[in-house]
Amino acid sequence: MGKTHISTEPLTGTSLRVLRLIPPICTSDIMSIPSKTTEYYISKPQGIDNLILREAPLAPSKSTEVLVKIHAVSLNYRDIAAVTGNYPGLKDEPVPCSDMAGEVIAVGSEVKGWKKGDRVASNFAVDHVHGEITKEIKDTSLGGAIDGTLTRYKNFPAHALVRVPEHLTYEEAATLPCAAVTAWNALLGPVPLKGGDTVLVQGTGGVSIFALQIAAAMGATVIATSSSNVKLQIAKKLGATHLINYKETPDWDQEALKLTGGRGVDHIVEIGGPGTLDKSISAARYGGWVHNIGFLAGVNTDLSGLTLKMLHKAIVYRSVLVGTRYQFEDLNRLLVARQIHPVIDKVFSFEQAKDAYQHLLSQKHVGKVVIKVAKD
Ligand SMILES: NC(=O)c1ccc[n+]([C@@H]2O[C@H](COP(=O)([O-])OP(=O)(O)OC[C@H]3O[C@@H](n4cnc5c(N)ncnc54)[C@H](OP(=O)(O)O)[C@@H]3O)[C@@H](O)[C@H]2O)c1
Repeated sequence: MGKTHISTEPLTGTSLRVLRLIPPICTSDIMSIPSKTTEYYISKPQGIDNLILREAPLAPSKSTEVLVKIHAVSLNYRDIAAVTGNYPGLKDEPVPCSDMAGEVIAVGSEVKGWKKGDRVASNFAVDHVHGEITKEIKDTSLGGAIDGTLTRYKNFPAHALVRVPEHLTYEEAATLPCAAVTAWNALLGPVPLKGGDTVLVQGTGGVSIFALQIAAAMGATVIATSSSNVKLQIAKKLGATHLINYKETPDWDQEALKLTGGRGVDHIVEIGGPGTLDKSISAARYGGWVHNIGFLAGVNTDLSGLTLKMLHKAIVYRSVLVGTRYQFEDLNRLLVARQIHPVIDKVFSFEQAKDAYQHLLSQKHVGKVVIKVAKD
């Protein structure tokens, strides 16, 4: 809808002509712009019980902002780390979560390209539009350095938004900003994987399942690992060629070497961190890529021998911090072209947000855990 203008001039001559050019005042639009939101915030980063629901004032949109009615939010392991005090750089009493999809309900006067009713998702770091990350850009990460998305309404800078692909629901689109863009940046970042490459994904959580889907869609052979044979069967249906249960086969690195005929894996999506890095280096091919993403296997492992081990195999060890809005748009084009749907394990209501956190913490899930925020 057009922007509304109220004139106090008498309606004569020029002003009458101008009035014909501007869209009519739509009082229902003005009335429907909320001045308050309902949001969660972390009162103390000491556990999920410290997620508190409150009503909060909603500042009017700035001229460069877009007001979004949030329909769905997805959780990432990072949100557990934040609420339990294990996430560096968290602001005081933050509104948690980075991922959302929603509907534009108003646009600032300088905004181009967005209009009321558009379906949008936001980039993880709102100012990471393209190029390398900087401290200043990292400090615009939602649900960390700045307030996040677990709220009914939120203003976003217009440049942070991407259009939601038509084939995705709001719940599906809300899974993309952190996990899917991270997987994309790992596998299709500065040196993209090639068809025929082998990709190993660790476990069946959010990042790994997106990496599996992206790698399979790009023509790679995927080795999926998991603690669960039931989850591995889901990975197989999603396109994994080889399956390794890392509980039953603790030397999964040796198994991966065997599966690649001794050559090793081209790209390892390393979400375990210090606890899995040694085996990832063993499983990788000479000159292969180990994408440093997560720390789910714990952080208290002695890594002192690993730099030499990487050197001897000319391993490319690359750290990934989510990604840019441009990468998000590239990802969406692949999802549209191949009609890929994100894997949602379970959807919780806004009021059940703490249960959603508990479910993610239990690691019973495959793919993503979603909170449906809007009732309609
Ligand atoms: N650097 C970045 O930009 C970035 C972005 C997103 C996420 N991350 C990090 O990446 C990690 C994954 O995040 P997420 O949101 O995808 O997590 P998630 O959905 O909570 O993933 C949980 C799953 O990881 C698997 N897992 C746990 N411990 C494992 C281990 N020792 N070895 C192999 N797999 C293991 C398990 O799958 P199974 O039950 O199938 O074994 C578990 O269900 C987290 O550490 C997160 O902080 C980093």
